[in-house]
Order: sequence, then C-alpha cells, then structure tokens
Amino acid sequence: MSIAHGSADAGARPEHLAASALLSLEGISLSFDGVRAIHDLSFDVAQGAICSLIGPNGAGKSSLLNVINGVYAPERGTIRFA
Ligand SMILES: Nc1ncnc2c1ncn2[C@@H]1O[C@H](COP(=O)(O)OP(=O)(O)OP(=O)(O)O)[C@@H](O)[C@H]1O
Ligand SMILES: [Mg+2]
Repeated sequence: MSIAHGSADAGARPEHLAASALLSLEGISLSFDGVRAIHDLSFDVAQGAICSLIGPNGAGKSSLLNVINGVYAPERGTIRFA
C-alpha cells in the first residue's frame, strides 16, 4: 500500500509537514485475528493536498480508510485531524 504524495514507511514523516498537516497518522497498526492489515503506518496529508491510496487486493486500503473514519479503532498509533 502506498500514499502517492509521500512515503508510507514508518519513520519517514517529512518534518516540514508535521506542524501543518490536516491529517496526521503516526504508527498505525491493525490486525484481524492475527492477520496484519496495517503495520506501523505513518504519514501526513497537508491541507489542500490531493493524494491517492494505491495497493493490490488485500493491501489494507479499506482497513486504513475505516481506521481514519472511526469504524475500526487502531491497535496502536494515533490519528490527528485538525
Ligand atoms: N473485517 C475483516 N475481518 C477479517 N479480516 C479482514 C477484515 N477486513 C480486512 N481483512 C483482511 O485485512 C487485509 C487487508 O484487507 P483490506 O480489505 O483492507 O484490503 P484492500 O487493500 O482494501 O483490498 P481490496 O483492494 O481487495 O479492496 C486482508 O488480508 C483482508 O483479508
Ligand atoms: Mg478495499
């Protein structure tokens, strides 16, 4: 799974975005009965940015959106929406 405007790698948060991000995820992890859907995902989306979420079937895209919208609570990590 990839965030098109930046990196989905853990610890790859651009420092210049951290203070002004509209949406900020830090260390998000989610599993379903041992199936790791999201592992230690961090990224920022700046206000006004257009970004895409891409990945193969089962990559965790829907799981991620459902963590952001509150359907699922992440096992670890924090989400901040300004
Ligand atoms: N409610 C659930 N219960 C158990 N496992 C789930 C559940 N939702 C997702 N998974 C598993 O979590 C992983 C990520 O699935 P998810 O649906 O988030 O991927 P996706 O990127 O949206 O896939 P697709 O492109 O097929 O829509 C997969 O291994 C999937 O089988
Ligand atoms: Mg999906």
